Amino acid sequence: MIPKPKGTYDVLPNESREWEKLEDTIRKICKLYNYKEIRTPIFESSLVFHRDQNDTSDMVTKETYDFKDRSDRGITLRPEGTAGVVRAYIENKLYVDNPVNKLFYMGPMFRYERPQKGRNRQFNQFGVEALGSDSPFIDAEVIALGASLIRALGLKDVTVKINSLGDEESRSKYKEVLVNYFSNYQDCLCEDCKNRLVKNPLRILDCKVDRDQEFFKKAPKINDYLNDLSKNRFNTVLKTLDSMNLKYVVDDNLVRGLDYYCHTVFELEVDIPEFGAQNVIGAGGRYDKLVSDLGGPETKGVGMAFGMERLLLATAFGGKKLAKEDSIHAYFIALGEKAEAMAIKIMNICRIGGLSCEMDFLNGSLKSQFKKADKNNAKFTIIFGENELETGTCNIKDNQTDEQETIELISVYNYILDKLNKASLCNGCNVKGEK
Ligand code: HAM
Repeated sequence: MIPKPKGTYDVLPNESREWEKLEDTIRKICKLYNYKEIRTPIFESSLVFHRDQNDTSDMVTKETYDFKDRSDRGITLRPEGTAGVVRAYIENKLYVDNPVNKLFYMGPMFRYERPQKGRNRQFNQFGVEALGSDSPFIDAEVIALGASLIRALGLKDVTVKINSLGDEESRSKYKEVLVNYFSNYQDCLCEDCKNRLVKNPLRILDCKVDRDQEFFKKAPKINDYLNDLSKNRFNTVLKTLDSMNLKYVVDDNLVRGLDYYCHTVFELEVDIPEFGAQNVIGAGGRYDKLVSDLGGPETKGVGMAFGMERLLLATAFGGKKLAKEDSIHAYFIALGEKAEAMAIKIMNICRIGGLSCEMDFLNGSLKSQFKKADKNNAKFTIIFGENELETGTCNIKDNQTDEQETIELISVYNYILDKLNKASLCNGCNVKGEK
């Protein structure tokens, strides 16, 4: 047996319904907020992600899957969605028809990280990107969309942490102060932070190694260095969240792990002990220079991405299942080859008419086939053998009431439909009996 690569996993049939339900919920929420789906390639030219020599983020410097294709082109498996979406936005000139593009995506991302619960090398993100507006209201809208998803999934104890990295002027002033401050503690900094001190001092605040040291906690805070414009902008975002009754915590150490952010940054954390360090289920922020850095027109953007595995893990830890148990309309127990031939024919008629059906393809005993009808959660079981074939009849059992009747084989479809319709009148279901 050849095992799966480290940090990957299989979604088995009994789990895929949860994924389907999560995807459905995401689509519904995106519709409410008028975000349109975009699908971009899973691999991109390496330059999309490795565009800046000075990038200090772990994701870009240590975690990408990079390779040369057979024509010696540099290719990278996407580690995140934002840069690829921005590349597509520029290449397809989406800005020509719409000054503001609100886009969403779902799909696999790849990061060479140390695998653990909630952290994989291939994982899925749901993300949104709003391109073309620098309104603080759209920052708040993105966070509100995230909160709506959390609510729709029934997740509890989620904290929104938020901060502002300000505009360039504020950041460069703050960087200067930070460099001065941390230079006094150079010997105490980890190797990564020594490098960050030169390339991107802000990222020191994101360090998981150094953050518990006393000098670290006493480091200057960005909020004290925001200029009026950045301060006002941040206050408007916070006031808008207040007006929508969305709770948040301002965390002045939050800088985020990616280098493209400015102004608003945020993370959504769950309080689930089993999650350990991987308790950030979603995160995002504003990136006003990414479009121009990737060769597009001056365009501001803001977005957010959730780890879909973490969303599902969080719902499972909350004891919730998103999807109802799978069921089918009819299970056919056909005894003997002739009966089986008839069953596959009737099943096809039923399926064309919209009823889900199954039969045993293993010639099992009557008892084992009844068990399979149960396992499939069949609403009806249809039983017939060679004797019934001669009279053109079958026995049909309603598995909810246990009532059994003998009916004509040719009327199986109409019989089930009629029963489902009657049940739907009582229960408020649609014609096919699905609620
Ligand atoms: P990120 O914080 O790198 O941001 O990832 C977003 C989310 O993806 C994380 O909060 C986490 O839930 C999930 N995630 C990240 N790495 C892994 C992993 N190895 N295994 C499982 N889940 C993971 C971004 O990717 C930005 N592109 C978000 C964004 C969109 N900013 C603006 N627009």
